[in-house]
Amino acid sequence: MTSSWSLEEKRAFVGGASLAPRRLLVTGGAGFIGSNFVHYWCSRYPGDRLVVLDALTYAGNRQNLALVDSRENFRFVEGNICDRQKIDILLQQEAIDTIVHFAAESHVDRSIIGPDAFIQTNVVGTFTLLEAFRQHWNGFLKDQTNSSDQIGSKQTGVFLHVSTDEVYGSLGPDDPPFTETTPYAPNSPYSASKAGSDHLARAYYHTYGLPTIITNCSNNYGSYHFPEKLIPLMCINILLGKPLPVYGDGQNIRDWLYVGDHCRALDAAIALGKPGETYNIGGNNEVKNIELVRLLCRLMDELAPNLPVRPCEQLIQFVKDRPGHDRRYAIDATKIKTELGWTPSVTVEEGLRQTVLWYLNNQDWWQPLLSEEYRAYYRQVYQV
Ligand code: NAD
Ligand code: TYD
Repeated sequence: MTSSWSLEEKRAFVGGASLAPRRLLVTGGAGFIGSNFVHYWCSRYPGDRLVVLDALTYAGNRQNLALVDSRENFRFVEGNICDRQKIDILLQQEAIDTIVHFAAESHVDRSIIGPDAFIQTNVVGTFTLLEAFRQHWNGFLKDQTNSSDQIGSKQTGVFLHVSTDEVYGSLGPDDPPFTETTPYAPNSPYSASKAGSDHLARAYYHTYGLPTIITNCSNNYGSYHFPEKLIPLMCINILLGKPLPVYGDGQNIRDWLYVGDHCRALDAAIALGKPGETYNIGGNNEVKNIELVRLLCRLMDELAPNLPVRPCEQLIQFVKDRPGHDRRYAIDATKIKTELGWTPSVTVEEGLRQTVLWYLNNQDWWQPLLSEEYRAYYRQVYQV
C-alpha cells in the first residue's frame, strides 16, 4: 500500500475483495461530535447503513440529525447504552459490523457536580456495549467459517471507542505533548470514567480478541456543540450580551481541533486502524483560554451585525477556577499521521470563523437549548 493512495482506495484495499457496504451502529449520534460524524459518513459513504442509538439526554438533540433523517439508509433509535436487551436486538436485526461509540456524559463541570451518571454511562454503558458486541462478534465468526458468501466487510468490522486526551492528565509548560504511551493520570470524574472505559476496550481486545480501537482526541469545536462547553458558551453569551466567564487566570491551554478533522481521523481509524491499537488525534493548535476568548470576541465584533455590547471583550470576567482544573493538554499526533496518513486540515482561525458564523446563522438551533434545566445548571456552576 503506498501513502499516495486516497482514503477510498485504501478502504477498498483493506476491505479485500469485498466492497460490501458497512453497517454501522453509532452511539451518541445525536450529540455534538456524533451528529457531525453522521453527516460526514452519510455524505461520504451513502451506500452504508447507519443506525444511531442515543438516549437523548440533555446533550442529545433530534434536530442535530434533521439533515439525514429521511435517508433510506439511516435509522434513529432512542435508547440507552446500558440497555443490553435493546442493543442485542439492534446488533442482530441490523447485522452491525462496526460500532462507533460516542455516547457519553462529556462535560467536566457536570462530572464535578454529579459524577454518578458518568460512571453509569461511560463505564457501565461501555461495558454493556462491549459485552453485547462480543456475543454478536462470536456469531459473525461462526457465520464466516460456515459460509463462503460476502463476508469481507464483516471481517474488517471494528469497535471504535471514541475517547479523550484528558485521560493522560495535565501537562506542565515544558512537558512534551501526550503520546500513545503516556501513562494515564485522569484528574476529573469525567476523565477517570473515560479512562475506565478505555481500559475495558483495550482488555476486550487482549482477552477476547474483539477488534477494538481507541482514539484519544483533543478538544473539538464546530457546529451543533452544546452551549455548556467553552466555545459555544462564549459565542452565545456574546450574542446575548452576557458576561464571558473565564476560569482562574485564563492561562490554561487546550489543543483545539475542528470537528470535521476529527471525523476524518475516525474514518481513517475505522478503515486502516489496527485492532488493539490506540491513536492520538490533535490539532497541533495549543491556545490559552484567554487568547481563545479574545479571538472569539474579535470575530464576533467583525461578523455579528447587532451585538448588545461592542467591543465584546468588555464582557470578559475572570471567575472562580474549576476544582482540579487541568493546566495544559497537548497531543502528539505523529502515529496517526505516519501509520494512517491523517493530518488536520483546518486552521484554528478558519475553523473558529466558520463556527462563529454557524452560531450566528443558527439561532433557532441554540435558543431552545437555553431551557430551565440549562439555567439551573448555569446558576449552579457560575454561582450567579
Ligand atoms: P455530547 O455530550 O455532545 O453528546 C453525547 C451524546 O451521547 C448525546 O447525544 C447524549 O444524548 C448521548 N448519551 C449520553 N448518555 C447516553 C446513554 N446512556 N445512552 C445512549 N446515549 C447517551 O458529547 P460529544 O462532545 O459529542 O462527545 C462525544 C464523545 O467524544 C464522548 O465519548 C467524549 O468523551 C468524546 N470526546 C469529546 C471531545 C470534545 O471535545 N467534545 C474530545 C475528545 C473526545
Ligand atoms: P471545556 O469546553 O469545558 O472543555 P474541557 O474542560 O473538557 O477541556 O473547557 C475548555 C477550557 O475552558 C477549560 O480549560 C475550562 C475553560 N472554561 C472557562 O474558562 N470558562 C467556561 O465557562 C468554560 C465552560 C470552560
